[in-house]
Amino acid sequence: MKKTFGAFVLTSVLLLVACSTETEQKEDNLVTLQENHVPFELAIPSHFPDMVIPKDNPLTVAKVELGKQLFFDPSLSVDGSVSCASCHLPSKAFSDVLAVSQGVKGAVTERNSPSLMNIGFHPIFMREGAVPTLELQVLSPLEGETEMAHNIVLACERLNQDSTYRARFQEVFGQSATPFTLTRAIAAYERTLIGGDAPFDAYLLGDSTALTPLQQQGYALFTSDRLACSSCHSGVLLSSFALEHNGLKPRDTDPGLMRLTLNEADRGKFKVPSLRNIALTAPYMHDGRFASLEAVIEHYNKGGDGVTNQDERIRSLSLQEDEKEALLAFFDALTEASGKGE
Ligand code: HEC
Ligand code: HEC
Repeated sequence: MKKTFGAFVLTSVLLLVACSTETEQKEDNLVTLQENHVPFELAIPSHFPDMVIPKDNPLTVAKVELGKQLFFDPSLSVDGSVSCASCHLPSKAFSDVLAVSQGVKGAVTERNSPSLMNIGFHPIFMREGAVPTLELQVLSPLEGETEMAHNIVLACERLNQDSTYRARFQEVFGQSATPFTLTRAIAAYERTLIGGDAPFDAYLLGDSTALTPLQQQGYALFTSDRLACSSCHSGVLLSSFALEHNGLKPRDTDPGLMRLTLNEADRGKFKVPSLRNIALTAPYMHDGRFASLEAVIEHYNKGGDGVTNQDERIRSLSLQEDEKEALLAFFDALTEASGKGE
Protein backbone atom coordinates (compact mmCIF):
# COMPACT_ATOMS: atom_id res chain seq x y z
CA MET A 1 0.00 0.00 0.00
CA LYS A 2 1.21 3.47 -0.77
CA LYS A 3 2.50 5.10 2.40
CA THR A 4 0.59 8.30 3.11
CA PHE A 5 2.38 11.54 3.72
CA GLY A 6 1.01 11.71 7.28
CA ALA A 7 2.48 8.30 7.99
CA PHE A 8 5.83 9.50 6.68
CA VAL A 9 5.89 12.52 8.97
CA LEU A 10 4.86 10.41 11.96
CA THR A 11 7.49 7.75 11.30
CA SER A 12 10.13 10.41 10.81
CA VAL A 13 9.34 12.21 14.02
CA LEU A 14 9.21 8.99 16.03
CA LEU A 15 12.44 7.75 14.52
CA LEU A 16 14.44 10.89 15.00
CA VAL A 17 13.21 11.41 18.54
CA ALA A 18 13.99 7.77 19.31
CA CYS A 19 17.39 8.17 17.70
CA SER A 20 18.39 11.19 19.68
CA THR A 21 17.53 9.57 23.03
CA GLU A 22 19.42 6.48 22.00
CA THR A 23 22.51 8.45 21.21
CA GLU A 24 22.32 10.92 24.07
CA GLN A 25 24.57 8.89 26.33
CA LYS A 26 27.12 8.79 23.56
CA GLU A 27 26.93 12.51 22.98
CA ASP A 28 30.04 13.34 25.04
CA ASN A 29 32.01 10.72 23.16
CA LEU A 30 30.75 12.07 19.89
CA VAL A 31 31.77 15.64 20.64
CA THR A 32 35.28 14.60 21.74
CA LEU A 33 35.62 12.48 18.64
CA GLN A 34 34.52 15.30 16.38
CA GLU A 35 36.89 17.73 18.05
CA ASN A 36 39.74 15.43 17.06
CA HIS A 37 38.60 15.39 13.46
CA VAL A 38 39.70 17.65 10.65
CA PRO A 39 36.87 20.15 10.11
CA PHE A 40 35.56 20.49 6.56
CA GLU A 41 35.95 24.08 5.42
CA LEU A 42 32.98 25.03 3.25
CA ALA A 43 33.91 27.17 0.25
CA ILE A 44 31.06 29.70 0.62
CA PRO A 45 31.41 32.52 -1.94
CA SER A 46 31.61 35.98 -0.36
CA HIS A 47 28.32 37.12 -1.90
CA PHE A 48 26.37 34.05 -0.66
CA PRO A 49 24.40 33.98 2.60
CA ASP A 50 25.74 32.12 5.63
CA MET A 51 24.88 28.46 5.93
CA VAL A 52 23.27 27.24 9.11
CA ILE A 53 25.00 24.04 10.25
CA PRO A 54 23.10 22.15 12.96
CA LYS A 55 25.04 21.90 16.24
CA ASP A 56 24.69 18.12 16.29
CA ASN A 57 26.20 17.76 12.84
CA PRO A 58 29.48 19.66 12.46
CA LEU A 59 31.19 19.08 9.11
CA THR A 60 34.35 17.02 9.13
CA VAL A 61 36.36 15.81 6.16
CA ALA A 62 35.78 12.15 7.02
CA LYS A 63 32.04 12.63 7.56
CA VAL A 64 31.57 14.40 4.23
CA GLU A 65 33.48 11.58 2.47
CA LEU A 66 31.30 8.96 4.13
CA GLY A 67 28.16 10.91 3.22
CA LYS A 68 29.30 11.11 -0.39
CA GLN A 69 29.90 7.37 -0.54
CA LEU A 70 26.40 6.76 0.86
CA PHE A 71 24.82 9.23 -1.57
CA PHE A 72 26.15 7.22 -4.52
CA ASP A 73 25.48 3.77 -3.01
CA PRO A 74 22.47 1.85 -4.41
CA SER A 75 22.62 -0.59 -1.48
CA LEU A 76 20.60 1.99 0.47
CA SER A 77 17.55 0.98 -1.58
CA VAL A 78 15.57 -2.15 -0.73
CA ASP A 79 16.74 -4.14 -3.76
CA GLY A 80 20.12 -2.45 -4.23
CA SER A 81 19.11 -0.83 -7.53
CA VAL A 82 18.71 2.88 -6.80
CA SER A 83 20.99 5.44 -5.12
CA CYS A 84 20.31 9.08 -4.28
CA ALA A 85 22.36 9.93 -7.37
CA SER A 86 20.01 7.88 -9.61
CA CYS A 87 17.52 10.75 -9.38
CA HIS A 88 19.96 13.53 -8.49
CA LEU A 89 22.47 13.38 -11.37
CA PRO A 90 25.75 15.25 -10.68
CA SER A 91 25.98 16.35 -14.35
CA LYS A 92 22.49 17.91 -14.13
CA ALA A 93 23.13 19.99 -11.02
CA PHE A 94 21.91 16.97 -9.04
CA SER A 95 18.44 16.96 -10.64
CA ASP A 96 16.83 14.38 -12.96
CA VAL A 97 16.20 14.36 -16.70
CA LEU A 98 12.82 12.64 -16.28
CA ALA A 99 9.61 14.60 -15.69
CA VAL A 100 9.00 12.44 -12.64
CA SER A 101 11.76 10.21 -11.28
CA GLN A 102 11.81 6.42 -11.18
CA GLY A 103 12.55 4.51 -8.02
CA VAL A 104 12.98 0.79 -7.31
CA LYS A 105 11.39 -1.72 -9.71
CA GLY A 106 10.37 1.03 -12.13
CA ALA A 107 8.07 2.70 -9.58
CA VAL A 108 7.23 6.25 -10.59
CA THR A 109 7.43 9.16 -8.15
CA GLU A 110 4.80 11.86 -8.36
CA ARG A 111 7.19 14.78 -8.56
CA ASN A 112 10.14 16.09 -10.49
CA SER A 113 13.48 15.73 -8.72
CA PRO A 114 14.84 19.18 -7.76
CA SER A 115 18.48 20.24 -8.09
CA LEU A 116 20.54 19.77 -4.94
CA MET A 117 23.16 22.41 -5.82
CA ASN A 118 23.38 24.95 -2.97
CA ILE A 119 20.78 22.92 -1.06
CA GLY A 120 22.48 23.67 2.28
CA PHE A 121 21.24 27.27 2.01
CA HIS A 122 17.56 26.28 1.77
CA PRO A 123 15.49 26.86 4.92
CA ILE A 124 12.88 24.21 4.02
CA PHE A 125 12.77 21.12 1.85
CA MET A 126 10.43 19.35 -0.53
CA ARG A 127 8.14 20.95 -3.05
CA GLU A 128 5.55 21.87 -0.41
CA GLY A 129 8.25 22.76 2.12
CA ALA A 130 7.17 20.13 4.64
CA VAL A 131 10.60 19.04 5.86
CA PRO A 132 12.68 21.37 8.08
CA THR A 133 16.18 19.83 7.89
CA LEU A 134 18.37 17.93 5.45
CA GLU A 135 18.90 15.27 8.12
CA LEU A 136 15.17 14.57 8.36
CA GLN A 137 14.76 14.75 4.58
CA VAL A 138 16.93 11.64 4.06
CA LEU A 139 14.14 9.49 5.50
CA SER A 140 11.71 10.48 2.78
CA PRO A 141 13.50 8.93 -0.23
CA LEU A 142 14.95 6.07 1.82
CA GLU A 143 11.52 4.91 2.98
CA GLY A 144 9.36 6.25 0.14
CA GLU A 145 7.61 3.36 -1.62
CA THR A 146 8.28 4.84 -5.06
CA GLU A 147 11.88 5.81 -4.30
CA MET A 148 14.20 3.50 -2.34
CA ALA A 149 11.37 1.62 -0.57
CA HIS A 150 13.62 0.61 2.30
CA ASN A 151 13.35 0.86 6.07
CA ILE A 152 16.03 2.95 7.72
CA VAL A 153 16.68 0.48 10.52
CA LEU A 154 17.15 -2.36 8.03
CA ALA A 155 19.28 -0.12 5.80
CA CYS A 156 21.58 0.50 8.79
CA GLU A 157 21.71 -3.22 9.57
CA ARG A 158 22.80 -3.88 6.00
CA LEU A 159 25.53 -1.21 6.20
CA ASN A 160 26.78 -2.66 9.48
CA GLN A 161 27.23 -6.06 7.84
CA ASP A 162 29.88 -4.48 5.64
CA SER A 163 33.19 -4.29 7.50
CA THR A 164 34.42 -1.25 5.57
CA TYR A 165 31.27 0.76 6.35
CA ARG A 166 31.40 -0.42 9.99
CA ALA A 167 34.95 0.88 10.29
CA ARG A 168 34.13 4.19 8.60
CA PHE A 169 31.08 4.88 10.79
CA GLN A 170 33.19 4.04 13.88
CA GLU A 171 35.91 6.39 12.71
CA VAL A 172 33.49 9.27 12.03
CA PHE A 173 30.90 8.87 14.79
CA GLY A 174 32.43 6.41 17.29
CA GLN A 175 29.45 4.15 16.67
CA SER A 176 27.93 2.01 13.95
CA ALA A 177 25.45 3.08 11.27
CA THR A 178 22.22 4.15 12.97
CA PRO A 179 19.34 6.27 11.68
CA PHE A 180 21.04 9.16 13.49
CA THR A 181 24.54 8.72 12.01
CA LEU A 182 23.34 7.71 8.53
CA THR A 183 21.18 10.81 8.13
CA ARG A 184 23.93 13.07 9.55
CA ALA A 185 26.57 11.79 7.13
CA ILE A 186 24.40 12.23 4.03
CA ALA A 187 23.21 15.69 5.09
CA ALA A 188 26.83 16.75 5.75
CA TYR A 189 27.78 15.79 2.19
CA GLU A 190 24.77 17.63 0.73
CA ARG A 191 25.88 20.86 2.46
CA THR A 192 29.11 20.77 0.47
CA LEU A 193 27.27 21.05 -2.88
CA ILE A 194 27.99 24.75 -3.32
CA GLY A 195 28.35 26.64 -6.59
CA GLY A 196 28.69 30.39 -6.94
CA ASP A 197 30.97 30.38 -9.97
CA ALA A 198 28.44 31.12 -12.73
CA PRO A 199 28.94 34.11 -15.09
CA PHE A 200 26.08 35.72 -13.10
CA ASP A 201 28.25 35.53 -9.97
CA ALA A 202 31.21 37.19 -11.67
CA TYR A 203 28.79 39.91 -12.80
CA LEU A 204 27.40 40.39 -9.28
CA LEU A 205 30.95 40.60 -7.97
CA GLY A 206 31.66 43.53 -10.28
CA ASP A 207 32.84 42.13 -13.63
CA SER A 208 30.44 43.96 -15.94
CA THR A 209 31.69 42.02 -18.97
CA ALA A 210 30.77 38.61 -17.44
CA LEU A 211 27.28 38.86 -18.97
CA THR A 212 26.74 39.51 -22.68
CA PRO A 213 24.57 42.55 -23.54
CA LEU A 214 21.65 40.17 -24.26
CA GLN A 215 22.09 38.48 -20.88
CA GLN A 216 22.17 41.89 -19.19
CA GLN A 217 18.93 42.78 -20.97
CA GLY A 218 17.47 39.49 -19.67
CA TYR A 219 18.58 40.28 -16.12
CA ALA A 220 17.03 43.75 -16.34
CA LEU A 221 13.73 42.24 -17.52
CA PHE A 222 13.88 39.57 -14.83
CA THR A 223 14.19 42.18 -12.09
CA SER A 224 11.79 44.72 -13.67
CA ASP A 225 8.47 45.67 -12.04
CA ARG A 226 6.77 44.64 -15.26
CA LEU A 227 7.88 40.98 -15.08
CA ALA A 228 8.41 40.80 -11.29
CA CYS A 229 10.27 37.47 -11.60
CA SER A 230 12.76 38.50 -8.93
CA SER A 231 10.02 39.22 -6.41
CA CYS A 232 9.78 35.43 -5.99
CA HIS A 233 13.09 34.31 -7.51
CA SER A 234 14.99 36.75 -5.33
CA GLY A 235 18.49 37.26 -4.02
CA VAL A 236 21.71 35.58 -4.96
CA LEU A 237 20.12 32.10 -4.88
CA LEU A 238 17.22 33.34 -7.03
CA SER A 239 14.59 32.12 -4.60
CA SER A 240 12.67 33.54 -1.66
CA PHE A 241 12.03 29.90 -0.62
CA ALA A 242 8.45 30.97 0.08
CA LEU A 243 5.46 28.86 -0.91
CA GLU A 244 3.83 30.58 -3.86
CA HIS A 245 1.28 29.94 -6.61
CA ASN A 246 2.85 30.63 -10.00
CA GLY A 247 -0.32 30.07 -11.99
CA LEU A 248 0.00 26.37 -12.84
CA LYS A 249 -3.25 24.44 -12.85
CA PRO A 250 -2.51 21.89 -10.13
CA ARG A 251 -3.15 18.19 -10.67
CA ASP A 252 -5.83 16.68 -8.43
CA THR A 253 -3.26 14.32 -6.96
CA ASP A 254 -0.88 17.05 -5.82
CA PRO A 255 -2.34 20.11 -4.06
CA GLY A 256 1.12 21.36 -2.99
CA LEU A 257 1.18 23.24 0.32
CA MET A 258 -2.44 22.29 0.94
CA ARG A 259 -1.22 18.76 1.55
CA LEU A 260 0.37 20.11 4.71
CA THR A 261 -2.16 22.72 5.85
CA LEU A 262 -5.38 21.19 4.47
CA ASN A 263 -6.33 24.78 3.63
CA GLU A 264 -7.95 25.31 0.20
CA ALA A 265 -6.18 28.68 -0.06
CA ASP A 266 -2.88 26.76 -0.26
CA ARG A 267 -3.87 24.52 -3.16
CA GLY A 268 -1.29 24.83 -5.93
CA LYS A 269 1.34 26.60 -3.81
CA PHE A 270 4.85 25.22 -4.13
CA LYS A 271 8.30 26.17 -2.86
CA VAL A 272 9.87 28.78 -5.15
CA PRO A 273 12.78 26.93 -6.82
CA SER A 274 16.25 28.44 -7.06
CA LEU A 275 16.97 29.20 -10.71
CA ARG A 276 20.70 28.49 -10.37
CA ASN A 277 21.74 25.97 -13.07
CA ILE A 278 18.26 26.22 -14.58
CA ALA A 279 19.61 25.52 -18.10
CA LEU A 280 20.75 22.09 -16.83
CA THR A 281 17.68 20.99 -14.91
CA ALA A 282 14.94 20.35 -17.50
CA PRO A 283 12.15 19.34 -17.29
CA TYR A 284 10.58 22.04 -15.13
CA MET A 285 8.04 22.61 -12.32
CA HIS A 286 7.02 20.25 -9.51
CA ASP A 287 5.69 17.66 -11.94
CA GLY A 288 8.13 18.27 -14.78
CA ARG A 289 5.28 19.40 -17.04
CA PHE A 290 7.41 21.75 -19.15
CA ALA A 291 10.18 20.17 -21.23
CA SER A 292 11.94 23.43 -22.05
CA LEU A 293 12.61 26.92 -20.76
CA GLU A 294 10.79 28.27 -23.82
CA ALA A 295 7.65 26.55 -22.50
CA VAL A 296 8.21 28.05 -19.04
CA ILE A 297 8.49 31.53 -20.54
CA GLU A 298 5.29 30.95 -22.53
CA HIS A 299 3.53 30.00 -19.29
CA TYR A 300 4.49 33.30 -17.63
CA ASN A 301 3.95 35.27 -20.84
CA LYS A 302 0.32 34.19 -21.13
CA GLY A 303 -0.26 35.06 -17.45
CA GLY A 304 -0.44 31.50 -16.15
CA ASP A 305 -3.42 29.16 -16.36
CA GLY A 306 -5.71 31.70 -14.67
CA VAL A 307 -6.67 29.44 -11.77
CA THR A 308 -7.86 29.95 -8.19
CA ASN A 309 -5.12 31.02 -5.76
CA GLN A 310 -2.90 32.23 -8.63
CA ASP A 311 -0.62 35.01 -7.41
CA GLU A 312 -1.51 38.46 -8.75
CA ARG A 313 2.06 38.92 -10.01
CA ILE A 314 1.40 36.21 -12.61
CA ARG A 315 -0.32 38.20 -15.36
CA SER A 316 -0.12 38.51 -19.12
CA LEU A 317 3.26 40.01 -20.09
CA SER A 318 3.09 40.54 -23.89
CA LEU A 319 6.79 39.71 -24.28
CA GLN A 320 8.47 40.55 -27.59
CA GLU A 321 10.58 37.83 -29.28
CA ASP A 322 13.83 39.60 -28.39
CA GLU A 323 12.71 39.79 -24.75
CA LYS A 324 12.12 36.04 -24.65
CA GLU A 325 15.59 35.51 -26.12
CA ALA A 326 17.07 37.83 -23.54
CA LEU A 327 15.47 35.87 -20.69
CA LEU A 328 16.76 32.59 -22.15
CA ALA A 329 20.24 34.07 -22.47
CA PHE A 330 20.10 35.24 -18.85
CA PHE A 331 19.19 31.69 -17.76
CA ASP A 332 22.38 30.44 -19.47
CA ALA A 333 24.41 32.81 -17.30
CA LEU A 334 23.22 30.93 -14.18
CA THR A 335 25.14 27.71 -14.91
CA GLU A 336 27.78 26.82 -12.32
CA ALA A 337 30.83 24.71 -13.23
CA SER A 338 30.11 22.35 -10.33
CA GLY A 339 26.49 22.06 -11.53
CA LYS A 340 27.84 20.34 -14.64
CA GLY A 341 29.73 17.88 -12.47
CA GLU A 342 33.06 19.66 -13.09
C1 HEC B 1 13.48 7.82 -7.08
C2 HEC B 1 14.09 9.13 -7.22
C3 HEC B 1 14.76 9.76 -6.02
C4 HEC B 1 15.70 9.19 -5.19
C5 HEC B 1 16.25 7.77 -5.22
C6 HEC B 1 16.09 10.22 -4.27
N1 HEC B 1 15.42 11.39 -4.55
FE1 HEC B 1 15.62 13.16 -3.58
N2 HEC B 1 14.00 13.86 -4.53
C7 HEC B 1 13.30 13.20 -5.52
C8 HEC B 1 12.07 13.91 -5.79
C9 HEC B 1 11.02 13.50 -6.80
C10 HEC B 1 12.05 15.01 -4.90
C11 HEC B 1 10.91 16.02 -4.72
C12 HEC B 1 10.05 15.40 -3.64
C13 HEC B 1 8.94 16.24 -3.09
O1 HEC B 1 8.97 17.44 -3.19
O2 HEC B 1 7.99 15.64 -2.54
C14 HEC B 1 13.28 14.95 -4.15
C15 HEC B 1 13.65 15.91 -3.19
C16 HEC B 1 14.85 15.89 -2.51
C17 HEC B 1 15.32 16.94 -1.63
C18 HEC B 1 14.61 18.25 -1.35
C19 HEC B 1 15.04 19.29 -2.36
C20 HEC B 1 14.38 20.62 -2.20
O3 HEC B 1 14.65 21.51 -3.02
O4 HEC B 1 13.58 20.83 -1.28
C21 HEC B 1 16.52 16.53 -1.14
C22 HEC B 1 17.42 17.30 -0.19
C23 HEC B 1 16.78 15.21 -1.68
N3 HEC B 1 15.75 14.86 -2.51
C24 HEC B 1 17.87 14.43 -1.34
C25 HEC B 1 17.92 13.06 -1.62
C26 HEC B 1 18.80 12.11 -0.95
C27 HEC B 1 19.83 12.47 0.11
C28 HEC B 1 18.55 10.88 -1.47
C29 HEC B 1 19.14 9.55 -1.08
C30 HEC B 1 19.01 9.16 0.32
C31 HEC B 1 17.50 11.06 -2.48
N4 HEC B 1 17.14 12.38 -2.52
C32 HEC B 1 17.00 10.04 -3.26
C33 HEC B 1 13.69 12.05 -6.15
C34 HEC B 1 14.58 11.13 -5.59
C1 HEC C 1 4.55 34.57 -7.41
C2 HEC C 1 5.88 34.04 -7.39
C3 HEC C 1 6.60 33.80 -8.71
C4 HEC C 1 6.83 34.72 -9.71
C5 HEC C 1 6.42 36.17 -9.76
C6 HEC C 1 7.60 34.01 -10.71
N1 HEC C 1 7.80 32.72 -10.33
FE1 HEC C 1 8.86 31.34 -11.36
N2 HEC C 1 8.27 29.92 -10.04
C7 HEC C 1 7.51 30.14 -8.91
C8 HEC C 1 7.19 28.87 -8.30
C9 HEC C 1 6.38 28.67 -7.03
C10 HEC C 1 7.74 27.88 -9.12
C11 HEC C 1 7.67 26.37 -8.93
C12 HEC C 1 6.30 25.84 -9.30
C13 HEC C 1 6.26 24.33 -9.25
O1 HEC C 1 7.08 23.71 -8.60
O2 HEC C 1 5.40 23.76 -9.91
C14 HEC C 1 8.43 28.59 -10.20
C15 HEC C 1 9.13 27.97 -11.22
C16 HEC C 1 9.88 28.61 -12.18
C17 HEC C 1 10.78 27.99 -13.10
C18 HEC C 1 11.05 26.49 -13.18
C19 HEC C 1 12.04 26.09 -12.10
C20 HEC C 1 12.27 24.62 -12.00
O3 HEC C 1 13.33 24.26 -11.45
O4 HEC C 1 11.45 23.82 -12.42
C21 HEC C 1 11.35 28.96 -13.87
C22 HEC C 1 12.39 28.78 -14.96
C23 HEC C 1 10.78 30.20 -13.44
N3 HEC C 1 9.89 29.96 -12.41
C24 HEC C 1 11.06 31.44 -14.00
C25 HEC C 1 10.34 32.59 -13.71
C26 HEC C 1 10.37 33.80 -14.51
C27 HEC C 1 11.20 33.99 -15.75
C28 HEC C 1 9.50 34.67 -13.92
C29 HEC C 1 9.10 36.05 -14.40
C30 HEC C 1 8.52 36.10 -15.72
C31 HEC C 1 8.95 34.01 -12.75
N4 HEC C 1 9.46 32.75 -12.68
C32 HEC C 1 8.05 34.60 -11.89
C33 HEC C 1 7.13 31.36 -8.41
C34 HEC C 1 7.19 32.54 -9.12
